Amino acid sequence: KYNVQYDEIKADVQPTMWGVFFEDINMGADGGIYAELVKNRSFEFYKPLMGWTIKRDKFNEGDILVVNRKDENTANPRYIRVKANNAVNGSLSLTNEGFRGMGVKKDLGYDFSVMYRQKSPGLKLHTELVDSTGKVIGAGELSPSETGDWKKQSISFKSNATVQKAKLNIWFEGSGEIDLDMISLFPQDTWKGRKGGFRSDMVQLLADMKPGFIRFPGGCIVEGHELSTRYQWKKTIGPIEERQLIINRWNTEFAHRPAPDYFQTFGLGFFEYFQLAEDIGAQPLPILNCGMACQFNTAEVAAIDELDPYVQDALDLIEFANDSTDTKWGKVRAEMGHPKPFNLKMMGVGNENWGPQYVERLKIFTKAIKDKYPDFKLVNSSGTDPDGERFDYLNTTLRGMKADIIDEHYYRRPEWFLQNASRYDNYPRNGSKIFAGEYAAQSDKTVSVDNKNTLQCAIAEAAFMTGLERNADVVNMASYAPLFAHIDGWQWTPDLIWVDNLNSYGTPDYYVQKLFSVNKGTQVVAMTGDGKAIAGTDGIFGSAVVDRKSKELIIKMVNSNASAQNAEISLGGKVKLSKNGVVTVLSADNLNQTNSFQAPKAVSPQDKAIKISGGKVSLAMTPNSFNVIKIKM
Ligand code: AHR
Repeated sequence: KYNVQYDEIKADVQPTMWGVFFEDINMGADGGIYAELVKNRSFEFYKPLMGWTIKRDKFNEGDILVVNRKDENTANPRYIRVKANNAVNGSLSLTNEGFRGMGVKKDLGYDFSVMYRQKSPGLKLHTELVDSTGKVIGAGELSPSETGDWKKQSISFKSNATVQKAKLNIWFEGSGEIDLDMISLFPQDTWKGRKGGFRSDMVQLLADMKPGFIRFPGGCIVEGHELSTRYQWKKTIGPIEERQLIINRWNTEFAHRPAPDYFQTFGLGFFEYFQLAEDIGAQPLPILNCGMACQFNTAEVAAIDELDPYVQDALDLIEFANDSTDTKWGKVRAEMGHPKPFNLKMMGVGNENWGPQYVERLKIFTKAIKDKYPDFKLVNSSGTDPDGERFDYLNTTLRGMKADIIDEHYYRRPEWFLQNASRYDNYPRNGSKIFAGEYAAQSDKTVSVDNKNTLQCAIAEAAFMTGLERNADVVNMASYAPLFAHIDGWQWTPDLIWVDNLNSYGTPDYYVQKLFSVNKGTQVVAMTGDGKAIAGTDGIFGSAVVDRKSKELIIKMVNSNASAQNAEISLGGKVKLSKNGVVTVLSADNLNQTNSFQAPKAVSPQDKAIKISGGKVSLAMTPNSFNVIKIKM
């Protein structure tokens, strides 16, 4: 019934085709991939002691005060001043609860560090990891020895137990006065062993996908729910104690599940995003604020004659990422340890912004950026309403403006994804390219507790993605959203990867993304059923690519039916194919099947051998399955 002509090239597959969308939502960054265990380490949350508990046995034993030096230090004004009077064994202490507790591992080393200032040495700090019963499971001692201006001192100690929700106690011994700030605890098993770095398990899941790009830092956090809390990349680089924390867009009455302790400390800032992109071989795709706050919340915009700083941020970002170390921002990159350019090729202007006010601002950005960097590609937003008027207006307008890339978002029911697999079959071929920048099939109402990452959603996305792949000449990039969610701290469902304080697992959707990405090939080839694109007739979807580097023919087929289906695929082309192939199958008995911490691989790809004979391959597809056939050429 089906036919693949593997010499008939339909389109090149862009190296960027399948990527990831990173946003600090659902504790994706702070409390997530950024491995800092101490919450509110610099006392800058709007309640300065949020996350901390002070214990003082007797009135005259000492005091702990939050001091504000806002005129002297605008980025990090607060610190604590500890005064102790013959303090002993826990009589004066501070405890940090972690983000949702601290996940610690048996026999792993932990690096504790603190910035301090004192007139004379006198106080000793005892640091202890404690489990939920208060039992000490790891301990160290630190005696700040220097005097004068702020210094940093570190110690390391091990945990002797694995605990999901540990806490950090710091108790003081002796008499004296000391100022403390940036109280920090990191595990030593961070990604690439970088001090103050990322959770390895979470980065590994991304690296395993071999993503073509990483979009950051969002999402709505780019916009902020008002302009004053928009994401400003310049405030996220340089020494971490100088990065000015802001409230997270997902910590507001607008969040579907408000998290009063959700702030962005920017330990994961723009330098780290670029570094992460480089580590996992993905092209960086930063999205910048276009002078508009999140339109779902407010209609706040920067006045046109006050747009310059926003545009300048965009120009300076390109300089920071790419330009010589003799330039102002190139020098900053070098000082942060990366003299080599990051090779930034594209940037998004605005996220889910719309209306004439968006177009007006976008034109100003586009002119300024293209005047200076003519080959630089810009991603323009067309919003979240793929079937609506607002979307049509923007799409038409942006095409008229010859936008390089248009970013379309769709959070829809699985049926929508099945019905829209041919969405791009008739798109204009010579104009703007498409970035399917955020999408996810919704098993229930978006963000509801019942909105699960089911097999049904994953299969619907796979079906839709065959349509993206078939149209790779138009669709140059795609990413599922959101990426990460912490089981105790999410605001949005469904999400690609779930984590707790110690573990992480990929959903069925994750495996769909990964299977497309690691099998993206280099060219789309002709694949038809009854002479037409295979886009849902009889519930079957299909597309095929060749990979000129690995010399493989790769055929993707989705059976969205509740019954098994056989597909006989004729293979036509000059090059001889191997007689033995492999088919990787993603499926499960039940459409509602999900993965979980208990069964992280309940729905995960399984490989089987498959025979090729007489120029044909017969594929027996189980119900609701995604199948990837690979044949050596
Ligand atoms: O992915 C979650 C949110 O969905 C993003 O922040 C926003 O761009 C979209 O509305």
